[in-house]
Amino acid sequence: MDSIKVGLLGFGTIGTGVIRVLQKNADLLQQRLGKKLELAKVVDLDITTDRGVQLEAGLLSTDVEDIISNPDVDIAIELIGGYEPAKSFILKAIANGKHIVTANKALMALHGQEILVAAEENGVEVMFEAAVGGGIPVISAIKENLCANDFSNVLGILNGTCNYILTEMTENGSDFAPVLKDAQELGYAEADPTFDIEGVDTAHKIALLAALCFGTKVDFDKVYTEGITNVAAIDIQFATQMGYKIKLLAIGKNLGDQIEVRVHPTMIPDSYQLSEVDGVFNAVRLSGDFLGPALLYGSGAGMDATASAVMGDVMAIGRDMISGAKRRTPIMGYCSDQIDELPIKPMS
Ligand code: HSE
Repeated sequence: MDSIKVGLLGFGTIGTGVIRVLQKNADLLQQRLGKKLELAKVVDLDITTDRGVQLEAGLLSTDVEDIISNPDVDIAIELIGGYEPAKSFILKAIANGKHIVTANKALMALHGQEILVAAEENGVEVMFEAAVGGGIPVISAIKENLCANDFSNVLGILNGTCNYILTEMTENGSDFAPVLKDAQELGYAEADPTFDIEGVDTAHKIALLAALCFGTKVDFDKVYTEGITNVAAIDIQFATQMGYKIKLLAIGKNLGDQIEVRVHPTMIPDSYQLSEVDGVFNAVRLSGDFLGPALLYGSGAGMDATASAVMGDVMAIGRDMISGAKRRTPIMGYCSDQIDELPIKPMS
């Protein structure tokens, strides 16, 4: 193995960011990995738009088979998003022995278990750090550094678009629609921004975090989900006068025989650290029985931060390939089809 070869499925905002990291930090990545990371193929339906990055001739293709059935590709990075065809592509790539890195929270929240079981059966890794919190290493923190803890709850501001909109409405009295447009132009919003503003994206992320923290399947359809479209300027004014900030909060709690998983706008006192998480920043507050509370904070969306998380996963898989280590991707129950499912407590 002279180099580790990477195939990129999806040449959008995050895909462009991944190529930028591979090009700008090529020497640093090689030095840290001990092998060259080589971009073997980039597949997208649109291979003519100029994304501002230079690619070698022959690298671009519209045929997904050039990655998922290409014997030269070791790691397939899925940045298409959505359920299908991303799921079919990933399952076929896994069956063909490719490791997977994905930023696809919708897919992992609803079909993650099936994908991880398939990976286990085929002896490959699936990593999805970029699915939650943009550049913040929250999934690896739960899976690795903090895995000796029993988690009682996980709270988060998990959508950069909503937090950006709420911050602009609070600090500058901005109207909702133009700020959403800004967030889209800045590359924060989903292809379908209703997923952001209706809370669905946040629900995908907290479903994943709850599954990992509490070692259970999470029935996504039962996650109470309310977005920010009903938050009016007057709500924000009253909250400010009373010493609160309105944030779209994701809440996961382990109640023992059931769990709470919900997403809704929440008034957070100005004295709480979470109230100070502004703009595109995200934060996740974890409570572990030995750790106590910990707050992870950083850029929650956008090309560069998300590409950083994607490439961290690529490097982790690269290290395992070189050392021959077989890292079971999810170490907490989540990968097994044997685990119990804790029911979600209904909202009263
Ligand atoms: N649309 C998402 C957000 C992107 O705004 O947070 C990062 O997952």
